[in-house]
Amino acid sequence: MKALLVLSLISLAAPAAAQVKMLGNTPDVQDPLAPPPLPDPIAESAPLRLSLMQTSQAQEGDEKYQPEVGQAGKDVIWVPTPDSLVKAMLTVAEVKPTDYVVDLGSGDGKIAIAAARDFGARSLGVEYNPDMVALARRNAQRAGVSGKASFINGDIFETDFTDASVVTMYLLPSLNLKLRDTLLKMKPGTRILSHAFTMGEWEPERTISTDDATGYFWIVPAQVAGRWAFEVGNERFAAEIGQQFQKLSVARGGPLKDGHVKGSTIHLVRANGQELVGELRGNQIVGSGWVATRIRSAG
Ligand SMILES: C[S@@+](CC[C@H](N)C(=O)[O-])C[C@H]1O[C@@H](n2cnc3c(N)ncnc32)[C@H](O)[C@@H]1O
Repeated sequence: MKALLVLSLISLAAPAAAQVKMLGNTPDVQDPLAPPPLPDPIAESAPLRLSLMQTSQAQEGDEKYQPEVGQAGKDVIWVPTPDSLVKAMLTVAEVKPTDYVVDLGSGDGKIAIAAARDFGARSLGVEYNPDMVALARRNAQRAGVSGKASFINGDIFETDFTDASVVTMYLLPSLNLKLRDTLLKMKPGTRILSHAFTMGEWEPERTISTDDATGYFWIVPAQVAGRWAFEVGNERFAAEIGQQFQKLSVARGGPLKDGHVKGSTIHLVRANGQELVGELRGNQIVGSGWVATRIRSAG
């Protein structure tokens, strides 16, 4: 099973390879109408250095380290997420300048860099391979966002990222599951994005498909399981609410029929069909014309 998943990561390597090449900034296609390049004396003695310098994008260190798609990583190999999916995922999460985006296993830094460059967010990449961290920092400098996108050399399972408002990852199903409890304890409304892999029974709010890849989007739900006292207009009733991730369950024949949670917004449907939409504020859910007060939490 694991071999299959690793293969699926590797199968994405082909389009990604082109992106890695772009990071070296050597143009893939020559313009047939362009004049032949002038001979340059440095070219003979230092071809690699010249190819980087030609772009005026070279950073010191580029010549020492070139990553290879599929190279080993601590818990998962490195394969970059295609640009189109990076953009689509950050767009679906509605990343904005007030966000703090953390990419877990940040590789060459492309997700954190895109969040800063294209969406104005502050961002952090956590990456175990120090050479990749150095590369990501050079890439951030090239993109002009080194003040906004930072990178740390660390293990995602030993790094506190719980102050993030958006978390992104391209790991493995088993690693997503290992992170799930931590993610679910984050602030309600935190947005989670994963390239390729799901979170077990925690169903995504959305599946994001591009031509060459798929991503998933979740919103951390507030915890509302327990017993609540409702005041809806002049009516008073109590209800027991169960919860599995974003889905709320209520006993049949009771005052509530259905419900779900999106961040700290609670949607409930009464047995009479009336919809109740409110915000969780401390121990109350406050809606327009109704309020529910927590009698006790579940478990
Ligand atoms: C599949 S790549 C994804 C890279 C990047 N997030 C992207 O989507 O383009 C996974 C990355 O996680 C890194 N990694 C693996 N295990 C890690 C760990 N325990 N802590 C931090 N980084 C890790 C690998 O070195 C690799 O760069």
